[in-house]
Amino acid sequence: MNIVLLGPPGAGKGTQARILVERDGMVQLSTGDMLRSAVAAETEIGKQVKAVMESGGLVTDEIVVGIISDRIEQPDFKGNVIFDGFPRTLAQADAFGELLAKKGMALDAVIEMRCDDEKLVERVTGRFTCHTCGEGYHTSFKKPKVEGVCDKCGGTEFTHRHDDNADAMRSRLLAYYKETSPLVGYYHAKDTLALVDGTAEIDEVTAQIAEALN
Ligand code: AP5
Ligand code: MG
Repeated sequence: MNIVLLGPPGAGKGTQARILVERDGMVQLSTGDMLRSAVAAETEIGKQVKAVMESGGLVTDEIVVGIISDRIEQPDFKGNVIFDGFPRTLAQADAFGELLAKKGMALDAVIEMRCDDEKLVERVTGRFTCHTCGEGYHTSFKKPKVEGVCDKCGGTEFTHRHDDNADAMRSRLLAYYKETSPLVGYYHAKDTLALVDGTAEIDEVTAQIAEALN
């Protein structure tokens, strides 16, 4: 099964993707995580995208489709993937459909995680991430069981994203409504769209996704 998690910044895409990986053994492909790794490793692509990511704009379709096609076109690509944060434009969605079709694979479901802006801002500004394993936390909604220690790996170093600030968040939301939200209609027309209430608690969202996938 291949699924897309579609939703604005802070909707909970990464949180739910990690739950699906753990519970169902799916593979998470997050273009945001891949691009952040490229920035950290100072690769050619990383240097090209650093400024636009920090300001909250979208990276070009060419770069993003390039990194996804590099994965899908690998001979050992078997699917069973949660695409987290991809596609984000109509051009990406078209290219994605073609890449999967070439592999003889389908996109089984697109889960739209809807959430209001006020909650989204509260979520991203309270977010922190384990530096060692990437587990995501929140100062109010998802605290580590022992303060300062990652539940998953025991790591004690946490990081904050450069784009988790009010200015970049405004640009990220604008990019979502302008460039990404048309995908709701696009996938509705293809009969693959399911809506979940992204404002619900984490476990409740997980349950709604499970129901949508059944
Ligand atoms: P990306 O990394 O994809 O960021 P995003 O879309 O802005 O989404 P986030 O990762 O901020 O939110 P999320 O939905 O994963 O929420 P999370 O689960 O962490 O992209 C970053 C940048 O990369 C883009 O701005 C762009 O520049 C570039 N990029 C990436 N893909 C691209 C593409 N395809 N095309 C062009 N450019 C691209 O949750 C957030 C917080 O809330 C956490 O603290 C979590 O603990 C908490 N939380 C989660 N769920 C709940 C809940 N139900 N209740 C309460 N709290 C919750
Ligand atoms: Mg994310």
